[in-house]
Amino acid sequence: MKILVVGPGGREHAIARALLRDPAVTTVEAAPGNAGIARDVTCRPVEATDPESVAALAVEGAYDLVVIGPEAPLAAGVADAVRAAGIPVFGPSQDAAQLEASKAFAKEIMAAAAVPTAEAIHISTAAEAADALNRFGPPYVVKDDGLAAGKGVVVTEDRDEAQTHAEACLTGGSTVVIEEFLDGPEVSLFVICDGQNLVPLSPAQDFKRIYNDDAGPNTGGMGAYTPLDWLEGYTETHGGVARNFTEIVVDRVARPTVEEMVRRGTPFVGVLYCGLAITSRGVRVVEFNARFGDPEIQAVLERLATPLGGLLLDAATGQLGPDRHLEWSNGYAADVVIAAENYPEAPRKGDVITGIADAEALDGVAVLHAGTAEHDGDLITAGGRVLAVVGTGGTLREAVDRAYAGVNCIEWSGAQHRTDIAAKALAGQINPGGPTPGQDHQ
Ligand code: AMP
Ligand code: GLY
Repeated sequence: MKILVVGPGGREHAIARALLRDPAVTTVEAAPGNAGIARDVTCRPVEATDPESVAALAVEGAYDLVVIGPEAPLAAGVADAVRAAGIPVFGPSQDAAQLEASKAFAKEIMAAAAVPTAEAIHISTAAEAADALNRFGPPYVVKDDGLAAGKGVVVTEDRDEAQTHAEACLTGGSTVVIEEFLDGPEVSLFVICDGQNLVPLSPAQDFKRIYNDDAGPNTGGMGAYTPLDWLEGYTETHGGVARNFTEIVVDRVARPTVEEMVRRGTPFVGVLYCGLAITSRGVRVVEFNARFGDPEIQAVLERLATPLGGLLLDAATGQLGPDRHLEWSNGYAADVVIAAENYPEAPRKGDVITGIADAEALDGVAVLHAGTAEHDGDLITAGGRVLAVVGTGGTLREAVDRAYAGVNCIEWSGAQHRTDIAAKALAGQINPGGPTPGQDHQ
């Protein structure tokens, strides 16, 4: 199998490496990739968000499969263009990618499919924003309707900040979703879909705020770990049947969503990223994305023992089947993102990075590149999130310690990272909020 991975970041580096581990995969290439991805596979200088250019490359390279990493190419219709050229694609059509690209659309689908989520109001004027904020009360949750790389959402106790964010989005030409605050630990569950059949990956947790203790603005994600031992005993009972976390998400969230997309004539092929909160009233959807989470997938793929190329090709060609089972290695994986100075506001670029080889020489440590470039023989920073350092180990403690041992080898001016990735899980401080086993849920 010859596979093209589309996208420039850490997620695509993780996907490319996992594909290289699949014995059925002979060649992996990336477009455009980055300096780190180019150390592992050939990179093609093609703009990821340009449908015609990616489709032309896909035909010219005679790939058996194109895997689209980020949301922007999906929203731009890259999957449609490649599919129209006759090449299997892992990634939803432009219409199906609206599940991520429009928060209002996602809410509409969830309402139609009776998927449990925060109550929300879609507004288009400052006065409507004020009414909606009054209705829900603090903490306020205000979301730019369109794609904003995880940075269009403000969650705050400060009513003025909430109103100001809503008005800034409106001024920028977006509409806004204001919604009920969901309290409880967050989990990312990625469900691979072939349009009809579903297979869930292992749940992961990521850390969205820039600073320790979930302080500061939202980012794309500053670290992640998997699996989540604290979810093990979680069950909800619906209609007299007790289900575990993954079953709840597949049966009550992913399957009804995928069925609703079929009903609308826009089947979803790719990965449905279910961002969930475990509230005292049960599991609720915080958001959908139409692609793998970054940096969660860097950790999740470290543990996936099922060959990735065959899995993604089967999803792309409608061949997942109803009872697809995945193999996982024992053990844990955690990753820590190192970001540039001033991320997420205005990351500084062009700083020289050192120490990656030292980190990679450590046991159970891998360094994935998110925003790097080569300049005059140096590796330099070229994005907000620059690297994700992944640690694997027999325990979560070991995986986290290895990731941080790797992080501590690496330096550049202004580099920043969180020092508390997975800390609450390690301290046994996460309480999945909830519902007493046996209790029936609405
Ligand atoms: P989104 O882009 O919708 O994923 O939101 C980004 C982050 O904001 C989420 O991962 C949550 O941490 C937070 N968030 C979004 N919606 C809510 C909500 N209704 N209640 C609490 N936190 C939220
Ligand atoms: N890590 C969150 C995201 O990929 O949206």
